[in-house]
Amino acid sequence: MEQINLFNTFIHPDALHQVANVLDSTFLSEGEIVSQFERKIETDLGLQNCVALNSGTSALHLALVLAGVSQGDEVILPAQTFVATGLVIVQQGAVPVFADIDYRTGNISVESVKKKITSKTKAILPVHWGGYPCDMDEIYSIAKEHGLLIIEDAAHALGATYKEKPVGSISDFTCFSFQAIKHLATGDGGALCTKTKTDFEKAITKRWFGIDRTHSPVSELGERSYNIKELGYKYHMNNYTAALGLANLNGFKERLEKRIATANYYRRELKKVDGIDLFDYQEDRQSAYWLFGFHVQRRRDFIKALRSKNIVASVVHQRIDRNDIFGGIKKDLVNQARFDGTQIHIPIHDEIDLEKATYIVEIIKNGW
Ligand SMILES: Cc1ncc(COP(=O)(O)O)c(C=O)c1O
Repeated sequence: MEQINLFNTFIHPDALHQVANVLDSTFLSEGEIVSQFERKIETDLGLQNCVALNSGTSALHLALVLAGVSQGDEVILPAQTFVATGLVIVQQGAVPVFADIDYRTGNISVESVKKKITSKTKAILPVHWGGYPCDMDEIYSIAKEHGLLIIEDAAHALGATYKEKPVGSISDFTCFSFQAIKHLATGDGGALCTKTKTDFEKAITKRWFGIDRTHSPVSELGERSYNIKELGYKYHMNNYTAALGLANLNGFKERLEKRIATANYYRRELKKVDGIDLFDYQEDRQSAYWLFGFHVQRRRDFIKALRSKNIVASVVHQRIDRNDIFGGIKKDLVNQARFDGTQIHIPIHDEIDLEKATYIVEIIKNGW
């Protein structure tokens, strides 16, 4: 068997043609194709007020800006994430406050969030680890009780649902990533979904320097007329990125179904394997399965045993609080520490068919 990697980059066969059309048009920057991508992703996946951006990190930063997070405010997040989630908080001059996670899922612990709230808390930033939705009802009631905003980091969760609602239609702000190895890849790219039309309109303006493109006509002098009132950024998606996104949206749901089927197969086959402790899975939500993770005993031996058979198994994202910029390991995150010691992820992506999944399961069952 050739090497089975942990991730893949999916490019739909139509992409070549669709991106070439944009190149032919020479209209490379943000235009009509970006709007088409936004409307299609909303219709196909039930997202709300989608604003396409140049990365998931930009989406997170813009969400914090729109949420009014500023100097000295506190934002509660898990340490089980990629550094982007924490860095954008620092970028706003705010303070990342790390809550513990649920050992069984890798998602933020609602009980821990409650303990971390202070008078300075402005927002809660849950991360749907591996694409498995957090306990949104419980997070929502804490937010409501304390007047906090919710910003979902859904970088792993495009296509996930919580109580039948698509992630991207639930909270004040939801942030997606379309970076190269995500389920919907545009190379780099992201999207911010907002609950309100007002935030959507603000996001549209702020993603391009604070200029509202549609309401800033070109004057007789040939220059666009505008008057920037608030700080904006260069965060927009461009047309050739959107063309790739549009092409890759074709068949997205079928590809997601395939991931779910692979995950269900893994769960059935691995649940009784000694030394493996599967993550918890509640029936009221559907994971987007960007990752398939579990806890494993003797992790290094497990990784080596799989590598010797050409299968890449890997830890994904070690706790981010360990970085000096976040002040180093927080001793009170006890579930995080346990999770760090045993988490492992095995391949689940577009190239994993039944033959490969069967092979992976067989190798794991042979032991390590
Ligand atoms: C949990 C999480 N949040 C945010 C990001 C940042 O997304 P991007 O790379 O599109 O900026 C990533 C990227 O991998 C991520 O895994």
